[in-house]
Amino acid sequence: MAKIAVDSFGSENAQLYTLTNSRGMQVSLTNFGARLVDILLPIDGQLRNVSLAAKSDREYMEKDSYVGSTVAPVAGRISGAATLIKGETVHFTENEPGRTLHSGNHTSNEQYWESEVEEENNRVVFSLVLPDGYNGFPGAVQVQATYELTEKNELKINYWAKSEKDTIFNPTNHVYFNLSGDFNRTVAEHMMKIQASQFLPLGEDNMPLGEFWPVDGTAFDFRQFAPLGQGMDGQDPQTKLVNGFDHPWVLEDTDIPVEVISPDEKVRLLMRSNQPAVVIYTYNHGPTDMAGRHTVFSLECQGFPNACNIENFGSILLEKDQEFDSHFSYQFEF
Ligand code: BGC
Repeated sequence: MAKIAVDSFGSENAQLYTLTNSRGMQVSLTNFGARLVDILLPIDGQLRNVSLAAKSDREYMEKDSYVGSTVAPVAGRISGAATLIKGETVHFTENEPGRTLHSGNHTSNEQYWESEVEEENNRVVFSLVLPDGYNGFPGAVQVQATYELTEKNELKINYWAKSEKDTIFNPTNHVYFNLSGDFNRTVAEHMMKIQASQFLPLGEDNMPLGEFWPVDGTAFDFRQFAPLGQGMDGQDPQTKLVNGFDHPWVLEDTDIPVEVISPDEKVRLLMRSNQPAVVIYTYNHGPTDMAGRHTVFSLECQGFPNACNIENFGSILLEKDQEFDSHFSYQFEF
């Protein structure tokens, strides 16, 4: 049975949980935002951290509270900061002009979740109740975020939820990777493969246009391994618009839809997901006190952004008393 270390992580409400496996891989998590902190891989006799991280809850609050966190109830942007739920208009907090980003203000990523440690499964379960009407979202919604580290160096993430009212629900995890372990270096030389022949183009307001575009002949074609830098050179009109990647890819139904290899080829990341999209964001708004522009990339597993307002984007409706269950994982070979 694996021992899970518990330490303090800044203020008195914040804890840090460290999972370890027999291969020497370590993953640390905090209940502040049900957040992934470090992912440490034993390479060349040292531990290489591949996940952008801060040292305390306060540091995340000061620098960037999305990093590594659970974003719930709805990740990404909602147009008009409103939607229709079963024929009724619902308004959300407008935290960007004319839009809601990542569910509004002080949401799941800035809350202290309840924690339950399951050493027999090498797992931590974080729980939170989003109050009814919080940022406008109907609820109350019980949410669980579970992180498990396996002996195969796979970090498994599961979101479960249940609402007392009809609502919308489309959470994600906002981990940022740099597989070189050097967060001062851009991720341009990472090699990426994505099993997707379509992506969702954005408009100037960063909202999906509601169209599916083929990746052929664009910076979005990663059907064969290609450098992530092809989205950062400003050559493609879509990447020029938002200064890099900030886009959803439409994943094909396959075991490992995304693979990434570090520039020194010592780390390979394999992503699995039962969700229809992966949003890849290359920290285009950087530099911040947390990271420089293009020094990290996210792999956000979720339903399509703004699905609640776009007809052919699938449903993110979570009906009263229905159970939501999503699964995805990041496995590391090193
Ligand atoms: C979004 C970006 C946003 C960032 C905030 C990402 O998930 O796609 O547009 O700026 O989160 O950290």
